[in-house]
Amino acid sequence: MDVLVTGGLGYIGSHTVVALAEAGYSPIIVDNLCNSQAWIHARLEQLAGQAIPFYRVDCTDRLALAQVFEQHPNVQAVVHFAALKAVGESTRHPLEYYQNNLGSLLAVLQAMQQQHVGILVFSSSATVYGEPEKLPVTETTPLQAPTSPYGATKAMAERIIADAVQANPQLRAMALRYFNPVGAHPSARIGELPQGTPNNLVPYMTQATRGVVPDLKIFGHDYATPDGTPLRDYFHVVDLACAHVLAIDYLAKAREGLPLQFVNVGAGTPVSVLQVVETFRQATGQPLPYRFAPRRAGDVEAIWCDATLAKNLLGWQPEYTLADALLHAWKWEQTLGEQEIPA
Ligand SMILES: NC(=O)c1ccc[n+]([C@@H]2O[C@H](COP(=O)([O-])OP(=O)(O)OC[C@H]3O[C@@H](n4cnc5c(N)ncnc54)[C@H](O)[C@@H]3O)[C@@H](O)[C@H]2O)c1
Repeated sequence: MDVLVTGGLGYIGSHTVVALAEAGYSPIIVDNLCNSQAWIHARLEQLAGQAIPFYRVDCTDRLALAQVFEQHPNVQAVVHFAALKAVGESTRHPLEYYQNNLGSLLAVLQAMQQQHVGILVFSSSATVYGEPEKLPVTETTPLQAPTSPYGATKAMAERIIADAVQANPQLRAMALRYFNPVGAHPSARIGELPQGTPNNLVPYMTQATRGVVPDLKIFGHDYATPDGTPLRDYFHVVDLACAHVLAIDYLAKAREGLPLQFVNVGAGTPVSVLQVVETFRQATGQPLPYRFAPRRAGDVEAIWCDATLAKNLLGWQPEYTLADALLHAWKWEQTLGEQEIPA
């Protein structure tokens, strides 16, 4: 089956392209390179051992997107990653976020309708749960008002897809609500490529270890958690990639008229920021200096998921440990030090 992957050169998209190819699917990538590098494409072809068509197209460009679908009439599924994702930036540039994240989703849904493509897997986020009252969160935990334009685009996107599915019984869709994917491909050929100072903990840690940033700042150590630092649900990005493959397998067999399915994807285990630091030190043997900084606006105290539905519905569970993910992230970071623009 041909699968169109929007944002397929990005962090999660690139790992998913490899997982799709390994599972026997034929991925086709659409990416405008606004947060990724063209050289990742050659690496994906190497890792997958097959040619992977890539179109440098902005998903909000309906005409260009329609042309990609026309060139690949065997596309039967779309995995839609393409989005801007920096929470802080979204509060400074909300219109850009609404335009990009919702404009691209609408264009993808319209192109799918025109070409009669019936399977959609969408990248949603734990951010839709806000600061939950009860933990762990299940898919029925009430959603809270979004605290950023980024979060709002995810909540709105879920609503848009739910409406599209209701109006079109041939469309089967799943919104995977990711918790905290970390790590890199075990080959160290692909991984996370943040622009500027990273917003996420693990690339911040690996850059601090390599000396790209002076040290690791831990934002807040006065939370009501066992060691005062926030609790999150970290898991390996390759496990997340596999969840997308299983979601397509599931939707391909699902009956028509199925409502939009929401599925949490996380390890289901709360881990504090300081525990991540300690696991990183043990896994890599690196000292990793850090200092405490004030809390960051918008960070919730604790969130982790109940991933039972992912297991029961998709047969998904994480294969890698947090130590594996951190070691792989460090291996990847080291390759960036050796060769900034690899072939
Ligand atoms: N990384 C996380 O922790 C996380 C957590 C929850 C949800 N998500 C969601 O998962 C998806 C992928 O995240 P990621 O971490 O891989 O981000 P990323 O920025 O690495 O990847 C996104 C890719 O989409 C591309 N893109 C963005 N807008 C586009 C457009 N209009 N047209 C074409 N390409 C476009 C970018 O160039 C990039 O390659 C996003 O939707 C993000 O919101 C990520």
